[in-house]
Amino acid sequence: MPVSRRSFLHALSPAPAGPSSAFVAARGREAHAAEGASAPARRSAGVLLLDSNENPLGPGRAAMEALTRAFVDAGRYPTNARPSTADLREAIAHRVSVRPENVALGAGSWELLRSAVRLHASSARHLVTAAPTFEQPEKMAEQLGIGVRRVPVDKDGRIDLEATAQAARWAGLIFFCNPNNPTSTVHPARAVTEFVTRVRKESPDTAILIDEAYHDYVTDPGYATAVPLALEHPNVVVTRTLSKAYGMAGMRIGYAVGQPRAIENFNRWGITFNQNSLAVAAAVASLGDPAHIDAERARNTEARAFTTRFFQDLGCRVMDSQANFLFVETGRPAREFKEACARRGILVGRAFPPLDKSHARVSIGTVDEMQRAGVVIAEVLGAGRPVPAAASSPSRPPR
Ligand SMILES: Cc1ncc(COP(=O)(O)O)c(C=O)c1O
Repeated sequence: MPVSRRSFLHALSPAPAGPSSAFVAARGREAHAAEGASAPARRSAGVLLLDSNENPLGPGRAAMEALTRAFVDAGRYPTNARPSTADLREAIAHRVSVRPENVALGAGSWELLRSAVRLHASSARHLVTAAPTFEQPEKMAEQLGIGVRRVPVDKDGRIDLEATAQAARWAGLIFFCNPNNPTSTVHPARAVTEFVTRVRKESPDTAILIDEAYHDYVTDPGYATAVPLALEHPNVVVTRTLSKAYGMAGMRIGYAVGQPRAIENFNRWGITFNQNSLAVAAAVASLGDPAHIDAERARNTEARAFTTRFFQDLGCRVMDSQANFLFVETGRPAREFKEACARRGILVGRAFPPLDKSHARVSIGTVDEMQRAGVVIAEVLGAGRPVPAAASSPSRPPR
């Protein structure tokens, strides 16, 4: 049946009361009705996706409603659409308390991490990174033939700031992920400031990229964003993403914050129109709804505590998570654990050398999802160990 523009827009427009049809189509009635419901795509596939540190509930209501409204402007380049990329920079600047000229946009923060390597490292000036940490910067360096110094994390999974500072001499770029993916741990504000001050003094030409992809999930009172350091120092930059707490991983919005010169450099390397106007509309709406992020943090904190207890009851050591995933000492190779879980319908994180023989990363879904996952994980790890009470009575049977 042919679909007219009018009937298409009618189908998308919000209903006067209750959720819009687009909201329901995208997230399902349960997602609207219950915080604990999982996303419909995952449910219908019957597989639990606990492998990519995504938000199990997807974008918030404000973002979904803005998306439906933005369809009429989809024919415009994102600089011309309403809201435009300039509006997005302004919304981010407002949210982070900086000026728009302190903000560069990326197609996810992934793009910005890769640009940072191009901008600051070279065959003469190496990249310093942690092991394990998020691998995109080192992958980019390897592609470009740039040397990489990997500094092992400490026994608690924290980035070793002392050893990183030592490795920084003559380096082009330090990649500092806080909280660190995959170990989930965070450094307090005081330690970050001391580290930046020391590197600036001992190796003033070395740039520092502080990746705060999981900033919105941190509950440690000692933590604070490094944005003030990025404003203060010419070669310190903070990156963030809307892929995690904002639930917009598929929409690809990331940003960097720094001094205007540093930001101009990112913009020079960025692809023209590296945003799309629908995602821009959703992002602007989401940034204007901070209560949704507070609620998402609270939801994740509860599910994180539940899942941490679950693993501890199984006898596994869990690193102190300040993110939406756990790094668990399962005592067996990550690949083996991942494959055993996958055969039972649960996808968990990949192997992270050098801790790939003993640790696994498990993303945190809803409590309901973690109860279902718990039954499978207890079976995989159990070998006779009891299934914890919380996981033994899932609200839905495992698939
Ligand atoms: C630490 C860290 N930084 C950056 C990213 C990239 O996120 P995106 O490109 O979706 O913004 C991820 C994704 O998982 C991550 O874990």
